[in-house]
This record gives sequence, structure tokens and C-alpha cells, in this order.
Amino acid sequence: MSYIQIKSVSKKYGDLTAVDNISFEIKEGELFGLLGPNGAGKSTLISIITTLIKPSGGQILVNGLDIKTKQSEVKKILGLVPQDIALYPTLTAGENLAFWGKMYGLGGRLLKERVKEALEIAGLSDRAKNRIDSFSGGMKRRINIAAALLHKPKVLIMDEPTVGIDPQSRNHILETVQKLNKEGMTVIYTSHYMEEIEFLCSYIGIMDHGKIIAMGTKEELRKLVSNKDVIKIKLTNENDAVFNTIKKLDNVDNITFIDGDLSINTGNADTVLAKIISTLENAKCKIQTINIEQSNLESVFLHLTGRALRD
Ligand SMILES: Nc1ncnc2c1ncn2[C@@H]1O[C@H](COP(=O)(O)OP(=O)(O)O)[C@@H](O)[C@H]1O
Ligand SMILES: [Mg+2]
Repeated sequence: MSYIQIKSVSKKYGDLTAVDNISFEIKEGELFGLLGPNGAGKSTLISIITTLIKPSGGQILVNGLDIKTKQSEVKKILGLVPQDIALYPTLTAGENLAFWGKMYGLGGRLLKERVKEALEIAGLSDRAKNRIDSFSGGMKRRINIAAALLHKPKVLIMDEPTVGIDPQSRNHILETVQKLNKEGMTVIYTSHYMEEIEFLCSYIGIMDHGKIIAMGTKEELRKLVSNKDVIKIKLTNENDAVFNTIKKLDNVDNITFIDGDLSINTGNADTVLAKIISTLENAKCKIQTINIEQSNLESVFLHLTGRALRD
């Protein structure tokens, strides 16, 4: 069932169209990834969904509620981890969370419980009484995530939560997102890191210049690039005749041989690999190593835009 419906949403800043007539739906329980380079319009779209900014046009429904007319109900459903860290540096981690909890109308014993739980999820229970200005960037991010969870939202929205942080905090965040999603939380995760989106997300939208240029599962997106697998074989000797035989095999699209490295582009490595190996063995070619590389979201982006995802 689709839980969030985005219908023809746009946002203009003067002549610039930051979000350009976007429509898509997110299912309940999905771990939805929004992948795009800096300036694609991800944060603008997130700010519109979370009612922080008004769209120039279009409509958004969250669990059937129009965000324009049911803003306060929608806010209870959504938990936002913004791209820019929003914490008071001179207050402790616990005090910051208590402040955010009060903003959501929590108080008394319930507030204490929720702060405790949120600190546990962030893996920072032992740092509750330390001031935020003594925290690393990664720890601040984890507190930010904890703050977004205090009111137990149905949907967690995270905007580039791992930019510029240490690997340990990054791993902690990725694991936390996976765990929350497994427990039933719907997640929207934006990033310009294709490895993270590929690792985490069950459904992915690729965004560029304010538009969603492709959407689907990893497998569906990979299929947009035709020669999707590359078989790389290192040989100790070469034999021109055998390369011509391999070239003629079904499903082999392209073959190159440079300095002992045989590179074969194919629509499907699984179906041709055995034939390639037996052809090489019959021709007495000695195989040193075999690697199969798959096209990834980076190659999909390159294929669709002619540009690399990262600058
Ligand atoms: N408040 C604003 N005023 C003018 N332009 C903006 C504003 N916010 C964002 N933009 C522009 O909109 C585009 C999309 O920005 P943003 O949504 O932050 O992209 P992303 O989050 O994908 O990096 C960029 O060109 C950015 O400069
Ligand atoms: Mg952004």
C-alpha cells in the first residue's frame, strides 16, 4: 500500500526550478533511497514533504492526509533528520533530547523513557551527561537521529546523514537504519553516496536537476544499462583464434584483450561464463584469475546523464 503520495510537486526559486514536477509513491515499510548529486533537489523535496517549505505546486498525501491541510497530524507521523545539524552545543546530549521531546509534547516519565530509549538507539547512553560541543561530528549526527525518533514516528526521513563523519559512526547509522526498517519503520534516505543507497535501499529514485530520472529496485535500475556484467579474465598466454570464438558466443556483446587482461561485456555473466572457460581451456589458454563486475548505480547514473555522480 502506498503510504506517501507525491503528486506533480514543484519548487521554484526565481528562475531556478529546484524540484521539477515530481510524482511518485512510497510504500509502507519501504526503505526508500533518493540518490542524486549535490544540487539535485533532494533537500528541497524533503523540506516540502516535512512541511518546512511550501511547494510552488502539486500535492502530497501522507497516509491519505494532505500535508497542506493536516500539517499537525502529518508532523506526528514524520521524523526528520535534517542535513544541517540542529543541536544546542552548550547543552548535554540528554538536555538536547529532552528539549526536542518537549517540542513534540512529551513530558514527565514518558519523556524520560523516550530520551533513554533514543540514547540507546544512538549508542550513546554513556554520554548522556556530556555537552554536545564535546562530541564528534558523527556523535552529533547520532543524537540528531535520536531526536527524530523521540515521538516514535511511522516514517523516518534522513537527509544525507553520513556526510563528513567517521567510519564508526557511519556504520552505526547504517545498521540503525536497517534495524528500524526491519522493525517496520518506513524510511526515506537521501544520499549522493551510491554505495550506501545500494547497500540499504529496497527501492530507489535517482534524482538530477530537480527531476526523478529513474526509479525502481536495484535490479530494475541496473537493467537500464545494457551490457550489465563485465567478466575480467587474466591469462598467462594469448591466442587470437580463441578470442574470435568467444566473440561469437551468444550473449557476448564486446571483448577486449589488453596486456593479458581479457574483458568481456555481457548481458548476463551467469549464462556465458561456463562456455567461455571451456573455450579457453580447449585452446590451452591458462587462466590466472576471473572476476565478474556488475554495473552499479554509478554506471546507471552515468548512462542516464553522461556525468559521474560525484564531482
Ligand atoms: N532557499 C533557496 N534559495 C534559492 N535556491 C535554493 C534554495 N535552496 C536550494 N536552492 C537551490 O536549489 C537546488 C537544489 O538544492 P538542494 O535541494 O539543496 O539539493 P540537494 O539536497 O540535492 O543537494 C540547488 O541549485 C540549490 O542551490
Ligand atoms: Mg541536500
